[in-house]
Amino acid sequence: MQSLTTTSLRIRENQLWILDQQALPQRSDWRECRDVSELVDHIRTLRVRGAPLIGLSASLLLALLAEQGMAQDELHHALETLRASRPTAVNLMNNLDRMKAALQQADYVKALTEEALRLVDEDKALCDSIATHGATLVTPGSRLLTHCNTGGLATAGIGTAIGVIRRAHEQGNVEQVWVDETRPLLQGGRLTAWELGELNIPYQLICDSMAASLMAQKRVDAIWVGADRIAANGDVANKIGTYSLAVLAKYHGIPFYVAAPHTTHDPQCRNGAAIPIEQRTATEVTGVSGSFGAVQWAPFNAQVYNPAFDVTPAELISGWVLDVGVVTPDQVQDGIFRQALS
Ligand code: MRU
Repeated sequence: MQSLTTTSLRIRENQLWILDQQALPQRSDWRECRDVSELVDHIRTLRVRGAPLIGLSASLLLALLAEQGMAQDELHHALETLRASRPTAVNLMNNLDRMKAALQQADYVKALTEEALRLVDEDKALCDSIATHGATLVTPGSRLLTHCNTGGLATAGIGTAIGVIRRAHEQGNVEQVWVDETRPLLQGGRLTAWELGELNIPYQLICDSMAASLMAQKRVDAIWVGADRIAANGDVANKIGTYSLAVLAKYHGIPFYVAAPHTTHDPQCRNGAAIPIEQRTATEVTGVSGSFGAVQWAPFNAQVYNPAFDVTPAELISGWVLDVGVVTPDQVQDGIFRQALS
């Protein structure tokens, strides 16, 4: 396969490399990813993370395994193992459905390679279009708040919500960004802070619990988040903590936007209650770990509830900013998400 470079994926000499998102920002560790069990481990530990990136890494690995001579039935098994690596983001399932169709073709090695590279190119283009539509909603002097990480690390392109912020900043309309640290795994504090710093976009990092008082002080003009799955009625699953921001935004009269590619829409999911929510290990909540080591502060036997995502009901969302355009609450009421978006 040809060489390829995105912020967090590389193909070099027919091998997949991933930028370890658990080591950032203290270290930029590129890790080789040779087989399915290695990639599944990277995905489960969030070294590879973000809805679009999970799907792209799985697709690229399948194509490389095919090029290395893996048999068709083994590739089928590999594909289903990768599909089960994380349940909430629908992009993984969508990408693998396309890879599965390529795998049925007579020249499946060529078809898989072409499809995986097409998915990467498409993702870059989707990010660009989201940014173009989203930036029209950002007014001059905006102080924007974002949650989790939705940038170049999580996609093959400039990102979704962060892509919008980046484009609006280039247009001179962003005064500053409030970055929610995003407990428990700190994607905001570690990854979004790092990305915005690299882009020279002014930001201040806050603990998740500080967002409410900032809104009460009228220091937030709009909230921009990404999505892992958009249900047929417009409900959105995204990183845990997104729902509380949406409730706060409604109370304070602040626009709350969801930026995502149309491929994050899942017409098979009737509403948010039908979206599978990943439950994660207790140690993410009982303490913290990273490239700096691990600390536990909770009692050894503390009982923990740790869903990785929550669901924001459609009625709290001011706009679904997709590559195909901005979907308004009225359009959602009229059932636009129930029809397949093209
Ligand atoms: O658990 P993560 O870090 O993979 O969760 C990521 C998010 O919730 C993002 O907001 C979402 O995947 C969109 S990334 C463009």
